[in-house]
Amino acid sequence: MKNTLLGGLTPQQFLRDYWQKKPLLIRQAVPGFTGLLNPQQLIDLACTEDAQARLVTQKRGKFDLQHSPFEPSDFKDFGKVDWSVLVQGVNHFLPEATELIKRFNFIPHARLDDLMVSYAPKGGGVGPHFDIYDVFLLQGHGHRRWQISTQADQTLIEGAPLRILKNFKVEQEWVLEPGDMLYLPPQCAHNGIAEDDCMTYSIGFRTPWHQELAEQFLVYLQDRVEIKGTYADPDLKLQKHPSEIGADMLKQVAATIRKVQWDDEDVANFLGCYLSEPKSHIYFDAPEKPLSAAKFALAVQKNGVALDLKAQMQCYGSTVFINGEAYPLNKTDYRVLRELADSRALLASDAHSPAVYALLHEWYLDGYLTPISKRR
Ligand code: SIN
Ligand code: CO
Repeated sequence: MKNTLLGGLTPQQFLRDYWQKKPLLIRQAVPGFTGLLNPQQLIDLACTEDAQARLVTQKRGKFDLQHSPFEPSDFKDFGKVDWSVLVQGVNHFLPEATELIKRFNFIPHARLDDLMVSYAPKGGGVGPHFDIYDVFLLQGHGHRRWQISTQADQTLIEGAPLRILKNFKVEQEWVLEPGDMLYLPPQCAHNGIAEDDCMTYSIGFRTPWHQELAEQFLVYLQDRVEIKGTYADPDLKLQKHPSEIGADMLKQVAATIRKVQWDDEDVANFLGCYLSEPKSHIYFDAPEKPLSAAKFALAVQKNGVALDLKAQMQCYGSTVFINGEAYPLNKTDYRVLRELADSRALLASDAHSPAVYALLHEWYLDGYLTPISKRR
């Protein structure tokens, strides 16, 4: 079957020729797609307590930015001001959004950030900028003019509340219709302007800073490092200046610190915990009247189980990671739970081991997953 999502390219061809390399416009990537929400539903979502949303207004080229929480009255009358509302993590609220993201399963989940949805009436947008993300910009309702540039000049307008490029030089532009999609690699300058009432679905892929990875790895390591013994100086020599750190002390401590070591297994464990850690504003709701372990197992056997929309899983070796916690398993159980991580669900089956049922029940009590209800 022709892969419309990538304009007829196979995922391998896309990864080889475009991913992280150059933009790709795909007309009718998702034929018939007109979006998952209407503008009012997106505004309602922007006003919910746990949504992360931004409101960008623009008057005579001057941008303004507000962050959630929002009230419905924040969206009343903008008069002649161009504006746009952008909501992050829409996949945490809408099952259809998680389904949409599954189309991008040819990119590892470890790289996925979220689905952001924007709405702008004619003229609205967030101005020319570049992101450090890979992004697929899928057009929902309405039309958006996308202008792009591979320019090296990344100078930003000083003092602007958003990162707006000072010297944006358009190299290519297109008007996207519902179902069209534009892939942009990181650092590719772009500007999207609503041609009419316009909604854009941005499937974003994170590219962590090296600095962030290194700092977070050290945080991870501090809980795991184990070096025995205490400082000792039976050969201490009299120092002329008691305030000075002596050469022998420095040598001994340097040798101690060199004992802090790690291997690829530690790095993999860190990555699994770090990448599956939910963002700080995310909370899980435990079931109000939880099923007992036995009833839960019966429900899973009968109907299967689905991950909560906010839950994040990674796998490595024979360890699964869920929402920042590592669970080392035997190979058979690992394969079962990797399937849950891959497809965010397990089909009805009574073939799981007691250990798998126990873990699933623990995660169910944490609000990370639920048995699939028969009506779905
Ligand atoms: C938008 O949807 O208006 C902005 C998306 C982007 O430029 O990253
Ligand atoms: Co952008």
